Amino acid sequence: MSNNRVSRRQFLNYTLTGVGGFMAAGMLMPMVRFAVDPVLAKKGGGEYVLTEKKVSDLTEKPEKVDFTYEQADAWYKSDVTDNAWVYKDGDKIIAISPVCKHLGCTVNWDGDPAHPNQFFCPCHAGRYEKNGKNIPKTPPLGPLDQFQVKEKDGFLMIGKVIPNTMVKQ
Ligand code: FES
Repeated sequence: MSNNRVSRRQFLNYTLTGVGGFMAAGMLMPMVRFAVDPVLAKKGGGEYVLTEKKVSDLTEKPEKVDFTYEQADAWYKSDVTDNAWVYKDGDKIIAISPVCKHLGCTVNWDGDPAHPNQFFCPCHAGRYEKNGKNIPKTPPLGPLDQFQVKEKDGFLMIGKVIPNTMVKQ
């Protein structure tokens, strides 16, 4: 007969350790889940936002188009309204980012009467051509970014920001 019998003390130790571990895991799991939840959450990257702009109303003149999307900052979600300068180039729809590549101010189309048909940044008089190309001898050192675009049921959709595809650097 084997002499490996479990004593009453050992049995109690095993049982209490097991139950204690189970309870500790039950308390810690929700905390760990809460701490890493933003990391596990699916990101909305690459999604398009529907605007109220009809594609048929776009012209060759850049027009400011607003769009709103939900932004998740860890556990905090908020609606953010952004805008793009959108125009038609033949059959193509071009959406230019309004964020100046110098220090991030907002550019306007035709914002400087002395330099019509250009994007103008009022902060340090930065200027860009219609395709976003920065004009030499003004502060910006690179072209304005673009947004990805597509059409849904005749309305414009704006996607993520991408580097300018029309300007060779
Ligand atoms: S931030 Fe636009 S020119 Fe400086």
